[in-house]
Amino acid sequence: MKTSRRRCAGAALAVAGTLALAAAAAHAQGSTAEEIAKYRQMLAEGNPAELWEAAGEELWKKPAGPKNASLEQCDLGKGPGVTKGAYAELPRFFKDTARVMDLEQRLAYCRVTLQGLTQEEALKHPFASTGKPSDIERLVAFLAGESRGVKMNVALNHPEEKRVYALGQKMFFYRGGAYDFACATCHAVDGQRIRLQELPNLLTPQGAQAAYTTWPAYRVSQGEVRSMQHRLYDCLRQQRFPEPAYGSDVITALSLFLARNANGGTYDGPAMKR
Ligand code: HEC
Repeated sequence: MKTSRRRCAGAALAVAGTLALAAAAAHAQGSTAEEIAKYRQMLAEGNPAELWEAAGEELWKKPAGPKNASLEQCDLGKGPGVTKGAYAELPRFFKDTARVMDLEQRLAYCRVTLQGLTQEEALKHPFASTGKPSDIERLVAFLAGESRGVKMNVALNHPEEKRVYALGQKMFFYRGGAYDFACATCHAVDGQRIRLQELPNLLTPQGAQAAYTTWPAYRVSQGEVRSMQHRLYDCLRQQRFPEPAYGSDVITALSLFLARNANGGTYDGPAMKR
């Protein structure tokens, strides 16, 4: 077991060097065999993400905030109240804000405009911690689930969409940090892996589709449903980049780049991951 794992690690990511492998190994906590066993058991029982989706739907429909309003009239891009298929077209340009927004930025916008929360309140506690679930993660799980079975169809028509896509692309190739890594260092080659984890080539439609259409995901190792925002945080941390603010435009740009590359793939989240 030990030798085969080391061999895997040795074959992985020549470009990254030993430092990165050590970091990635530290990141992948717990015994892999144990995690796989846990994962199999959960698969047999169904995806726990369903619980997040159900809780999110309730939150969506429940009057809340100073205005005591639900989010049901939120316009996610397909008109007020339309949730079906909305996630598969995000991020997108919104006329009312004159900005390209991802699901999580748009959700915050609706919580401010419809429910009367402050921007700060609407962005608070985006990721659950032990014993403290996140309303945002639940809402995101519900809304993403509303696109299950829908083909990714992210437009690049508006000049702002083109500009933000180009920004995301630039970010993808931008090297920096202590290791001089870019996203591309780990995600622009076929068949690259760190230990047992395959690193999708996010520049190919197949790689981008497999990755993008499965987030948010229930993460067995964390016992939580995590969104694409959280996935990208995790990767930026592995890259030793500064942590972006939650809901920042940089994450939206990266998401637009990935989502557009995934066009044509059928959305199939929230999935279950290691
Ligand atoms: C040091 C290597 C490394 C760098 C740099 C890196 N990632 Fe990752 N990335 C990983 C690992 C490891 C995983 C987890 C793979 C797994 O769990 O199977 C991952 C997973 C992902 C996934 C989810 C893939 C899936 O199929 O679930 C996406 C999307 C992603 N990374 C995007 C990015 C982006 C965008 C950047 C740049 C901001 C980036 N990554 C930088 C190592 C890296």
